[in-house]
Amino acid sequence: MVPLTLILALATATSTLAAPTPDSSPSTSDTTTLEARKSAQSCKIINVDHYVNCRYQPSLDAGEIFGLKHGTEYVFACKAKGDCYSGNCSWDQITLYGTTCYVNGYFTDSNCSSEKLPAC
Ligand SMILES: *[C@@H]1O[C@H](CO)[C@@H](O)[C@H](O)[C@H]1NC(C)=O
Ligand SMILES: *[C@@H]1O[C@H](CO)[C@@H](O)[C@H](O)[C@H]1NC(C)=O
Repeated sequence: MVPLTLILALATATSTLAAPTPDSSPSTSDTTTLEARKSAQSCKIINVDHYVNCRYQPSLDAGEIFGLKHGTEYVFACKAKGDCYSGNCSWDQITLYGTTCYVNGYFTDSNCSSEKLPAC
């Protein structure tokens, strides 16, 4: 008969080994990895001739604080849900000169996609 202490030792060893194995639970570990990878992104301003308005809130009615220039890269911290523009209801948050404002996702490149930017 196998001693109880040996059975416990084996059980512990098995579960310790099982946890970090990538294919033990693929969907859970993928989601965790993706969430962990989300961070501020450097995104280019697109779909506008000159400047796009950066607004006080993620809303088309909110006051304009800055104009962000077409083709220039800016660092956006996170994304927030707001008014939809051209089918895009996600707004990218940026802080410039100590002031936070939002640009609709329609005007930022794919670096600002929801897969990369964390929620605000
Ligand atoms: C996307 O982000 C990467 C990493 O921050 C940066 O090097 C690259 O220039 C960005 N590309 C665009 C098109 O914004
Ligand atoms: C909204 O904008 C983001 C960032 O530019 C982009 O990744 C996403 O595909 C856009 N969504 C739609 C529905 O156009």
